[in-house]
Amino acid sequence: MELHGKSILITGGCGFIGANLVCMLAYKNCKIKVLDNLSAGKRENLGQNDVELIVGDIRDEELIKKITQGTDVVVHLAAHTDVIKSIENPQLDFDVNVVGTFNLLKGAVSSQSVEKFIFASSNAAVGEQIPPITEKAIPAPLSPYGASKLTCEAYCSAFAASYGLQTVSLRFANAYGSYSTHKSSVISQFITNVLSNRPLTIYGNGYQTRDFIYVDDICRAILLSINNSNAEGIFQIGTGKETMILELAHKIKALSGNNVDIIFEPKRTGEIIRNYSGIEKATRILEFVPEIDIDTGLKMTYGWFCKDGYTDNLFQDNLQIC
Ligand SMILES: NC(=O)c1ccc[n+]([C@@H]2O[C@H](COP(=O)([O-])OP(=O)(O)OC[C@H]3O[C@@H](n4cnc5c(N)ncnc54)[C@H](O)[C@@H]3O)[C@@H](O)[C@H]2O)c1
Repeated sequence: MELHGKSILITGGCGFIGANLVCMLAYKNCKIKVLDNLSAGKRENLGQNDVELIVGDIRDEELIKKITQGTDVVVHLAAHTDVIKSIENPQLDFDVNVVGTFNLLKGAVSSQSVEKFIFASSNAAVGEQIPPITEKAIPAPLSPYGASKLTCEAYCSAFAASYGLQTVSLRFANAYGSYSTHKSSVISQFITNVLSNRPLTIYGNGYQTRDFIYVDDICRAILLSINNSNAEGIFQIGTGKETMILELAHKIKALSGNNVDIIFEPKRTGEIIRNYSGIEKATRILEFVPEIDIDTGLKMTYGWFCKDGYTDNLFQDNLQIC
C-alpha cells in the first residue's frame, strides 16, 4: 500500500520507536495521528512534525472506536514494555497489552477503513530457544510481558482469519537508537553510565549475547510491512547477528573515551544466554535487509545521547560530563 495521502494511526508514537517512526513518516505525505497516554513517552519527542496528538489510553474502548474511524493503517506500538515490571504487576501488563490491543483490533474492524494493522511484538513472546529464533519456534514465554505479546499475536491471527483484517506481527529484537534515554535497555543504561562516570554493571560473565537492531532498521521493517500486500502473519525483525554484552560494554567505553569500571554481578535468574533472530522470512517476503551495523549504530546513538538526549531533564540529572 502506498502511504501517500493515507491516514495512519500510531499508538505509543511519543515513545522510543514511535518518535523515530514519526520522523521517518514525515517525508511520506500521509496524515499522522498519534495516540499516547504519555506514561513513558513525551509530547516533545514529536518535535515540529505535522502530527495530530491524541492524549489518551488504549484501554479506553470508546476512544479507540472513535479514532480508528477513517484510519487506513494502524501501527500499534503502545505497551507496557518492561519485562521485570510485568513480573511484579502482571495485571497491569495484561490490561495495557492484551486489553489495549484487543480494543484496537476491534476498533480497526468496526471502522471498515483500516486496511493494515501492524503489531509490535517481541522475541519475548517466544522465550528461551536455541538461536536463531525463527517464526517456526514453538513459543514458551518466560514473563507475563512475553505472554501478553504472544496472546496479541494470536488475536492478530484470529482477527485476520475471522474478519479479514490484514495483520502483521513484527517480533523486534533488542532495539537501540535515538529517543531512548528513558529506556532500561542495556545500551541506554551503558551510555547513560559512561556519560555520568558510573561503572557498567554486567550480570554474569558478559558472554551472553543479544541481537541489537538500530531503530531506523525497525522503522524500515514497519514501512515495508505496510507497503507489501503479501505481508501477513509473524516476522522476526533483527539483524541476524549476535553481540556479547561484554563486547558491547567495551565498545561503549571506547566511544566515550571514559575509563569507567566494568563490574560483574551474579547472573540473573531466568536470563537467556544466547539470543538472536533468524530473519530469512523477513528478507524473503518483506525484502527487509538491516542497513546499520552495531558500530555505526552505537556511534549514532552515543552522538544523539550527547546532543539531543541532553535536553531530557531526567537524563540531565544523571549527567556529569558530555
Ligand atoms: N525497544 C525494544 O527493544 C522493543 C523490543 C521488542 C518489542 N518492542 C515493542 O515495541 C513497542 C514500542 O516500544 P518502545 O521501546 O518504543 O517503548 P516506549 O515505552 O518508549 O514507548 C511506548 C509508548 O506507549 C505509550 N503508552 C504506554 N501505555 C500506554 C497506554 N495504556 N495507552 C496509550 N499509550 C501508552 C508510552 O507513553 C510510550 O510513549 C512496544 O510495544 C514494545 O513492547 C520494543
